[in-house]
Amino acid sequence: MIRAMRPVIVAGNWKMHTTPVEAGDLATTIAERSNEPDVVRVFCPPFVCLQAVRDSLASLPAGRSVAVGAQNVHHEPAGAYTGEVSAAMLAGLASWVIVGHSERRRDAGETDALIRLKIARAQEAALHVILCVGEQIADRESGAAERVVRDQVRGSLEAVDAAALEAWDQAASWGASPWLTIAYEPVWAIGTGRNAKGADAAAMAGVIRETLGTLGFSDAGDEIPILYGGSVTSSNIDEFMTEASIDGALVGGASLKPDEMAAIVARAGLTARARAAAPGA
Ligand code: PGA
Repeated sequence: MIRAMRPVIVAGNWKMHTTPVEAGDLATTIAERSNEPDVVRVFCPPFVCLQAVRDSLASLPAGRSVAVGAQNVHHEPAGAYTGEVSAAMLAGLASWVIVGHSERRRDAGETDALIRLKIARAQEAALHVILCVGEQIADRESGAAERVVRDQVRGSLEAVDAAALEAWDQAASWGASPWLTIAYEPVWAIGTGRNAKGADAAAMAGVIRETLGTLGFSDAGDEIPILYGGSVTSSNIDEFMTEASIDGALVGGASLKPDEMAAIVARAGLTARARAAAPGA
């Protein structure tokens, strides 16, 4: 299957919120209010809520599908790792996984080397990966933001055989989205109410794709969707969706609010339809 254009994706990272019962209810409420067939929607609840979310989304009418994602995965296939969750355990519960979120880099000491292993485990389990990268405020202020993000992309993906994976990606039935999506999430913008500028996010998307090109991804990474994340709301989503290099958003706080998600996905839908009407524009 050859993808004609990059999909538009809105992923909600629910972080450590909701019980299983709450999550099941929230998933159907948001799914119904944000119904937008042209946008790939992914809800990422806590591990213990994956089953409830999956079950409640299964009751949606056909054509309204929402994918379910995990927020993390362990870097080993199995073993004595108390409290951890392997990629194989996610089978049947999630088809996407967030890897390398800055809160895990901060709280669990995740390094690019570890994230590389997580990506390998996710691939073995045929999970779509959302790889998070982003600089600290000090990096941006000192002019080091691009170098930091480039190093993260390279450090997380350099072991990947891009050509082999792309061939596999095209052969496997991945639907509208490729196996890899990258979320550019400046750390200083996450949960702070201080979002990046659309133009800065677009510039960073250019840096990310250029780096993918040096790693052997075809068309200089042009097939890989890049999302913006960090204090995305219905009021600022437009700033990102008007940038041709940005393919959607990874939403934290606002992803728990049905009206906010409905408005964010609706705005993303405008871009998705514009792309479909003018492919390659
Ligand atoms: P936020 O979180 O939208 O609450 O800033 C984004 C994220 O952490 O993915």
